[in-house]
Amino acid sequence: MAKRTIVAMPGDGIGKNVLKESIRILDAVGFEANYVHGDIGWEFWCKEGNPLPDRTLKLLEEHKIGLFGAITSKPKDKAEAELAPELKGKGYVYYSPIVAMRQKYDLDICMRPCKTFKGNTLNFIRRGPNNTIEEPVIDTMIFRQNTEGLYCGVEWTNPPDQVYDALMTHKKFKENFAWCPRPELAVSTRIFTKKYTTRIVKAAFEYAKTKGLKTVTVCEKPNVIRETSGMMLKIAQEMSKNEYPDIKIQDTNIDAQMMWLTKNPEEYGVIVASNMFGDIASDAFAGLIGGLGFACSAQFSSNGVAVFEPTHGSAPKYAGYTVSIVNPIAMIESACMMLDYLEEKKISSKIRKAVAEVIAEGKVRTYDMMKMAGRPEVVKNGAASTSQMTDAIIARLK
Ligand code: NAI
Ligand code: MG
Repeated sequence: MAKRTIVAMPGDGIGKNVLKESIRILDAVGFEANYVHGDIGWEFWCKEGNPLPDRTLKLLEEHKIGLFGAITSKPKDKAEAELAPELKGKGYVYYSPIVAMRQKYDLDICMRPCKTFKGNTLNFIRRGPNNTIEEPVIDTMIFRQNTEGLYCGVEWTNPPDQVYDALMTHKKFKENFAWCPRPELAVSTRIFTKKYTTRIVKAAFEYAKTKGLKTVTVCEKPNVIRETSGMMLKIAQEMSKNEYPDIKIQDTNIDAQMMWLTKNPEEYGVIVASNMFGDIASDAFAGLIGGLGFACSAQFSSNGVAVFEPTHGSAPKYAGYTVSIVNPIAMIESACMMLDYLEEKKISSKIRKAVAEVIAEGKVRTYDMMKMAGRPEVVKNGAASTSQMTDAIIARLK
């Protein structure tokens, strides 16, 4: 088979530290690929006024598969302040390059697995009957709609006339917000379309069917956000009735779901949610399996582009350490999701087995696995560095 070309986009901060470790693992396991570097992130915003340069988009268009680290986003005023002097005042407006990439390539299906690693001392435990200690085994796949909803980017401060006038046609807006001076008004829209809502719900059902699961949980808030959350729930209910009669819908509200999280997390095999609620639910579930150092993700489109990334951000406070201390497992597991997608399941299983063995053995642990504060001296105090963790995983590859 021809060597594949993967667009490697480290991004900012610890994205740079972890992406290279995942490539070391892929090389060590014998996955044959060329990696082309894609520029993305804060540096390119500051230097070029564009955090997602066209040259990177071209690479993705050509090669289709991206491995991505993380980027740094900052509020509007900070973004303006850090722009190169010659670009200031020229109308450049900062936007999140990862949100832009998802929208540009229609990466609408985001899968975020949260699976317990045996022996991870960070695993969630709870008290059971008769004062026993229970350690539930969690195996949840969160399907997050990745391009619409509250992160769609359609928003205004001091909305223009047409928008304001349209809002004033809504009874609730008129009754509750007409008092507010327009310059003091900020509006972020939450847009759902039937097409993309159906796609994410369908993806969740298909996954449930493949895994033999009997329920799909829709985690929204349809009792309050009636139009959008209501649309997702209705689509899911109809899909269950008409296409998947063996799979029932479980309907939870995002706030209650955060409570159910610690009561019965093992009962959620597949959750489907909108962009923001999926983001919240996946970080929350990640907390049960050890935190963001373990949380991986995959993003798919219907046009063949797919991007794989850890769900954590660029953790800037840890980025500048001479020896990197962050956990590379989330990034490595994201690379495994890429291998699955490329039908290299034998290789991905090898890596996952090696990761699981290193965690279960418990000898090599990054600072987060030892509940240390993330300071440079953690390595001196017995924690593994980012690359030592990778070395331990490579040593286990068979
Ligand atoms: P973050 O995920 O970067 O960090 C939050 C905390 O999680 C860290 O302080 C650290 O304690 C822990 N953590 C994250 N990754 C870890 C790892 N691999 N190993 C060990 N511990 C880890 O989120 P935060 O601090 O809210 O955001 C920092 C920057 O990242 C912001 O500029 C934000 O906009 C950006 N961000 C980017 C994302 C992306 O590129 N997809 C996603 C989330 C945030
Ligand atoms: Mg998040």
